[in-house]
Amino acid sequence: MRRLLGTLLVPAALLATATSALADTDRPRSGPEVVAHRGASADAPENTLAAADEALAQRADAVEVDVQRTADGHLVLVHDATLARTTDVARVFPTRALAPVGAFTLAELRRLDAGSWFSPAFAGERIPTLAEFGDRLGGRADLLIELKDPARYPGVEKEVGYEVDGRRGVVVQSFDHDAMRRFTEATPDVPAGWLFDGRPTAAELDDAAAHGVTQINPSFEVVDTALVAEVAARGMQTGTYTVDAPDDMRRIADAGVDRIITDRPAVLRTVLAG
Ligand code: G3P
Ligand code: CA
Repeated sequence: MRRLLGTLLVPAALLATATSALADTDRPRSGPEVVAHRGASADAPENTLAAADEALAQRADAVEVDVQRTADGHLVLVHDATLARTTDVARVFPTRALAPVGAFTLAELRRLDAGSWFSPAFAGERIPTLAEFGDRLGGRADLLIELKDPARYPGVEKEVGYEVDGRRGVVVQSFDHDAMRRFTEATPDVPAGWLFDGRPTAAELDDAAAHGVTQINPSFEVVDTALVAEVAARGMQTGTYTVDAPDDMRRIADAGVDRIITDRPAVLRTVLAG
């Protein structure tokens, strides 16, 4: 397995300039970091290299992606459990349109068009591997990697950890906190985030802190100044998803969060500048 941002592919100068903002709790900031959700997914097909390019063009500090594993063991970027929404799988593999992502080999995924569903302008866009996506960013933005449904892929947390260990500006997160505990045990030097659908309880925050979690990342609907303070009191940061309306962006920024995950990085930049 090739490791993410391999030095053969990324010049040392780029690695040296890669920001470590997501991993650095002491970094001075004037506002929340801008994280492009699945890439800049309002303007390019999610989890593709085009979405990485668009995130960079919109000056995102970091890019969030969803990682799953192919049948032959490659780490690839897909959000859904199946390929039906974001590819032409029904045309290419008509009898397997609703098969799980992990039932396909990388060679099979390479045959799919992951761009046309979004717009004809992105026809031919392919599903990238995690390594390809990291190479495309080239250290110009940090990477927030979500382990998507890791229970489907036994051992995936260790494989992702192996791929990113030692790389600056990488954080790994999941809603599956058991998988994240295993991740941190295997890769204690890689910053870890715990995602939450709802508001984390004090016990959950204590548990996260005890397991060395760096980021608490709940849905924005539950975020307020009190929660940000509870998280900070335990030495962790608050990130929140997925904030796309300017009014919500303003409220969430005012609550003091450390990062905002959005489909619309350029809009968030404008709101934060206002
Ligand atoms: O980064 C958090 C966010 O991506 C979680 O929700 O469904 O977009 O993966 P989802
Ligand atoms: Ca995600």
